[in-house]
Amino acid sequence: MVNIAVLGFGVVGTGVVEVIRKSNESINRKAGDNINLKYILDIRDFPGHPESSIMTKKPDDIFHDPEVNLIVETIGGTGIAYEFTKRALLSGRHVVTSNKELVATHGPELLQIAKEKNVHYLFEASVGGGIPIIKPLYECLAANEITSIMAILNGTTNYILTSMAKEGKDFDTALKDAQVNGYAEANPTADIEGHDSCRKIAILSSIAYGMFVDYKHIPTEGIKNITYDDQKIAQALNFKIKLAAYSKVLGNKVFARVCPVMLTSSHALANVEDVFNAILVSGDAIGDVMFYGRGAGKLPTASAVVGDIIDIAKNIDRSHMYVWTEKQEDNLLNPGEVETRYFVRVKVRNSEEAKNYINKIFGVTEFIGLLGYQDQLAFITNKGPDKEISGNIDKLKEIASVSKVLTSLRAIE
Ligand code: HSE
Repeated sequence: MVNIAVLGFGVVGTGVVEVIRKSNESINRKAGDNINLKYILDIRDFPGHPESSIMTKKPDDIFHDPEVNLIVETIGGTGIAYEFTKRALLSGRHVVTSNKELVATHGPELLQIAKEKNVHYLFEASVGGGIPIIKPLYECLAANEITSIMAILNGTTNYILTSMAKEGKDFDTALKDAQVNGYAEANPTADIEGHDSCRKIAILSSIAYGMFVDYKHIPTEGIKNITYDDQKIAQALNFKIKLAAYSKVLGNKVFARVCPVMLTSSHALANVEDVFNAILVSGDAIGDVMFYGRGAGKLPTASAVVGDIIDIAKNIDRSHMYVWTEKQEDNLLNPGEVETRYFVRVKVRNSEEAKNYINKIFGVTEFIGLLGYQDQLAFITNKGPDKEISGNIDKLKEIASVSKVLTSLRAIE
């Protein structure tokens, strides 16, 4: 019997309970064991809730019950969730979580404890919602040297960008819709400013490249400067604006970045819309492989959590022993050195003078026609070190013939 306590009865916690209740018979069959929901811990009251009989506000009810052998942590954050996770693992209990912040911050320590205690610490739901990606990276793709990952990892921002582009919704309305649908974080700043994607690409990169990648060192930009005009122009030019999270290995270092990008419409990620996420993984044997599905929301995320529970039930006495190297300060490449192109759109006072200047500093001769925007110029730079190109874009702000730099986004073919 697997006796479970769910810690945190928010969007994901309620989803986990719903899935276990709804599909209990088939889950038990697949697990080869009885999956028994024994407690739900939450500090809030849920009067008249059908699960009232198993609800508690006292963590010790759970930790003092020797029958509880699996903890589902769906509290989120790195505060009490960290304490409970550590306590659970140290007491020899398996832990399943959707908490990307905790995994990205304390992954090496928690995995090490799990290994020492011969228990599982599984977090399939922490990246990509319902998409299987953690286990495939650890197991199915284990034969490969993974060379790069390019991904859309945040459902909320993808939903916002899609609504802006397709339905002409303004940013605030699109965000509210995402919140109503349960996609956004409690504080949506983490979504909009790219921090959620950053933690997720850090987790994937740590698994893929076999060295802990600290999210705190990943340069991260969000989507709050993307305007409706940007979206309209991108569409007219056959581009899509997406919040991309990407990383690659160069030598013994990792390069990683989160930022909005202009993707050509033929790119594999260009048509990933709404709350969907996708992860394009490149390996030396497999070539490219893409994972696609719902990246947020109650039931998709619960699907991944319950999948981990079943995995544990099937391997109850044998931990997967996933281990990450300890934190290393210097395993991230200087992002300014990595070659990139930019899409740039400027408002001009004098088009000919601006063109001459752009030609001189960027070597650009071709300009993109922007129908309906007569006082603007757009162009794509040649490839060069990121720092050099962004420095040249800053210089545009100083010259008399350009009145404003409206857009500067990394362009990806
Ligand atoms: N806020 C996250 C997202 C939830 O929008 O992708 C899933 O991690």
